[in-house]
Amino acid sequence: MRFNWINAEEISFNSFLLMDRWLVRMICNNYLDWQEFIDNFSIALAYNPTVAWYFAHRCPESKPSIDNLIAMAPKNLCAVDVRKAEVFVIDAMETSVVYTFPDIMEKSCDYIYDWDKKYLLELANFTDKLVLDVGSGTGRLAFAAAEKAKRVYASEPTDMLREYMRDKIKCENIKNVIVVDGTVEQIPYEDNTFDIVMSGHVVGDDYDREISELTRVVKSGGYIIDCIGDDNRKRKPNEELLKRGFEFFYHVSKSGGDIYRYRKMVIK
Ligand SMILES: C[S@@+](CC[C@H](N)C(=O)[O-])C[C@H]1O[C@@H](n2cnc3c(N)ncnc32)[C@H](O)[C@@H]1O
Repeated sequence: MRFNWINAEEISFNSFLLMDRWLVRMICNNYLDWQEFIDNFSIALAYNPTVAWYFAHRCPESKPSIDNLIAMAPKNLCAVDVRKAEVFVIDAMETSVVYTFPDIMEKSCDYIYDWDKKYLLELANFTDKLVLDVGSGTGRLAFAAAEKAKRVYASEPTDMLREYMRDKIKCENIKNVIVVDGTVEQIPYEDNTFDIVMSGHVVGDDYDREISELTRVVKSGGYIIDCIGDDNRKRKPNEELLKRGFEFFYHVSKSGGDIYRYRKMVIK
């Protein structure tokens, strides 16, 4: 699905030099059964040796597939054909490339700019609570919760996004948001630490593993919240969350999307 969050024509292939290891691994592993992507990615890598070097060293486990891709690229292509391949890859990886441009992410992703914080704050009482936001991105949920909470830990595996949130904290003199590295699979906190553990657009690759990790760090009587932003997508309630004991809240976004938010009180 294309979201048009970025204009690939305006983006340098060097933006891939800003990617973290997990993103490089995902790009190199997850798309290798998509022939059109492989054809274009092999050209883009072969004709951008700095990016190829960075990928192979940043993510050594992907080096064999990177070497294969480079070896299969056609030789002596003209600059126009190389750029066509680069644009194809940038477009195809739009949802990852946008993480390397947090300003663009904040302004062009509808789920961020079209969202109202009331949709989070009505899900729980955040006042004076210790809150964890997992996969914070640009901090949509973290900064909203921080207006009420005692402290919010914004955990985010992408370096560019962590630095974006830190710049915002400095610029706006925010005192109660702490930015940390971490993934939903391995949350860097002790058991039973938080009153509220929240995320948006993060859970979904492996529900059992992710929800058991979210549950581990929430205190008994605390909440796990899944609060996506507002977009124009038509969707049904998430059966995977419902069957794991989440209740849902529904509204229609300004652009006509079906927005489901989820909450579960954890009793241990
Ligand atoms: C679509 S963005 C959503 C950002 C933010 N939660 C929001 O809703 O505005 C997904 C975020 O999850 C992060 N992410 C990707 N894989 C992750 C993982 N395994 N664990 C935690 N966060 C992850 C990405 O870096 C990105 O910031």
